[in-house]
Amino acid sequence: MTDEFVESGPTDEVGDEWEAIDVRDTEADRIARQKDREFSEFRKRLKNTEQFKVEGSVFDDATYAALYKLVQDDYLQAFGGPISTGKEANVYEALDDEGETVAVKVYLTTTSNFQQMSDYLEGDPRFEGIRGSTTKVVIAWVRKEYSNLKRAQAAGVAVPNPLAVQRNVLVMEYLGDEEGPAPTLVDVTIENPETAYSVVRKYMRRLYDAGLIHGDLSEFNLVFHDGQITVIDVGQAVTVHHPNAEEFLERDCRNIASFFADLDVDVTTESLRSYLETEASPPSRD
Ligand SMILES: Nc1ncnc2c1ncn2[C@@H]1O[C@H](COP(=O)(O)OP(=O)(O)O)[C@@H](O)[C@H]1O
Ligand SMILES: [Mg+2]
Repeated sequence: MTDEFVESGPTDEVGDEWEAIDVRDTEADRIARQKDREFSEFRKRLKNTEQFKVEGSVFDDATYAALYKLVQDDYLQAFGGPISTGKEANVYEALDDEGETVAVKVYLTTTSNFQQMSDYLEGDPRFEGIRGSTTKVVIAWVRKEYSNLKRAQAAGVAVPNPLAVQRNVLVMEYLGDEEGPAPTLVDVTIENPETAYSVVRKYMRRLYDAGLIHGDLSEFNLVFHDGQITVIDVGQAVTVHHPNAEEFLERDCRNIASFFADLDVDVTTESLRSYLETEASPPSRD
């Protein structure tokens, strides 16, 4: 890891207004219901051919339909192997229309974390009234991740650029190079922990300024890419109005403080919280 961190700055003032999120039937659901010949062939190709090989994954029809729609809309042209497999989602490499690598996060619509996801959505003003089927909750969740990425980006936090969302599938900028995906902070030796910490806390403050709390922030969701620390996995991020906002903020601060304190940075959960809360007020962000 190099000595200097490049950090991105805020692009826009972000306020406290929220865009409503629509979880009506998606195009992918319609395609899956129709299951025309072209779609069936795509499904087969994605399963069978080397180029579209999806290792260790069996997608349901609607997930294939979401990928099919992303190909039709020119967001994707080929699907690669998995970067990560998790409880709620798998992340894959894929190629966009121009042959550049992108990351595709595919949420399982049979997630065992449905209840927890609903609890996170409840209390977020953007998602009022969305409960009900697992699929609707997952669709809302993926849109929330997309919208959180946009909001974080506008606030000057380095995150993967969100490119497209379709049902339970999110396409975003790939962090990594020909040799593979970029490592998380768990897997790098941090030579300048003070600087790294100051970047992370600045990003936390910018998120907080933009009305968001990450909610699962730790060294596992911070990636070191291109000389820069990048925040990932913002699906669960909640607004500061969320009933559990306080608890999530405290936990994020605890995780980050303990990670950097172990690297001999002079930080405690309390000092980080007080930095976020006392210096977060706009307009100055630095
Ligand atoms: N945009 C991306 N580019 C490259 N790798 C990524 C990207 N997003 C996620 N990953 C990889 O996939 C892993 C899981 O992604 P994440 O969004 O944290 O999902 P999960 O909810 O499973 O933790 C990350 O730890 C990272 O290694
Ligand atoms: Mg993660």
